[in-house]
Amino acid sequence: MDRLNGKIAIVTGAGSGLGKAIGETFASEGAKVMVTDVNSESAKMVADNIGANAMAMHQDVVDPDGWQDVFEVTAKALGAPHILVNNAGLVIPATIEDCTLEQFRLTHNVMLEGVFLGCQTAVRAMKTNDQPSAIINMSSMAALQGYSPFLAYAAAKGGVRSLTKSVALHCKEQNYPIRCNSLHPAGIDTPMVRQAAVGADGEPTPATGMIPLGGLGHPNDVAELCVYLASDASRFMTAGEYPVENGTLYQPS
Ligand SMILES: NC(=O)c1ccc[n+]([C@@H]2O[C@H](COP(=O)([O-])OP(=O)(O)OC[C@H]3O[C@@H](n4cnc5c(N)ncnc54)[C@H](O)[C@@H]3O)[C@@H](O)[C@H]2O)c1
Repeated sequence: MDRLNGKIAIVTGAGSGLGKAIGETFASEGAKVMVTDVNSESAKMVADNIGANAMAMHQDVVDPDGWQDVFEVTAKALGAPHILVNNAGLVIPATIEDCTLEQFRLTHNVMLEGVFLGCQTAVRAMKTNDQPSAIINMSSMAALQGYSPFLAYAAAKGGVRSLTKSVALHCKEQNYPIRCNSLHPAGIDTPMVRQAAVGADGEPTPATGMIPLGGLGHPNDVAELCVYLASDASRFMTAGEYPVENGTLYQPS
């Protein structure tokens, strides 16, 4: 498969779950991939497993200097980046009644400021690319429908949704070769969802409303859409928002 032949991609939070699947799928489609994560060990394992077309770097997405390093090292080692997937994330269970200001700020720091820094660094680096380029921001169905058990998470993902559209429109207005779209998964089987939505018996429970009717999705369900949105096949798609959730939005509660 060669849908991403010649492309250089950076995927954040790629040591686990969706990011890992996205990195692996990108490489299997011909891309060279920089796998970054705050967990250096898991990033290295993913890159080692992919082989010659991947490299790992420690990155905390809240660190502005770290973003410069990631783009510079990627450009030197693999080539000038054409694809950024802002995927890193965390979830803290807390409602409007018990969410602390620290929890709210930490969530926004990683998942909204981190995405802002990623988009800013990417636009500055990719605006002069001679190949079409793409930013994919991992939002959530929580951005579209709210999510009372994870208030701060839903708020940050809502920010990612509108940030994405503003970045996309700016690039279009400036005639930059960069498209920017957001993805809105729900109920995909990853360590994050297992931690947040699986009962004491280790099996998925619908109690938190995170499990789509029909069961959990596979990380590849998201990775496949990422390949499409990163590839030139989606050249006419920007500022869009794409659910991957098996009808969760429409299921009876
Ligand atoms: N799994 C789902 O159903 C689902 C649904 C909606 C949205 N998402 C989003 O998808 C993304 C990936 O989630 P996942 O389910 O694969 O979870 P996951 O916990 O398996 O992976 C998240 C990764 O992000 C990394 N990370 C956390 N904080 C970081 C930081 N400050 N800097 C760099 N890396 C950091 C973690 O180390 C981890 O490797 C997240 O943004 C999440 O909110 C997932």
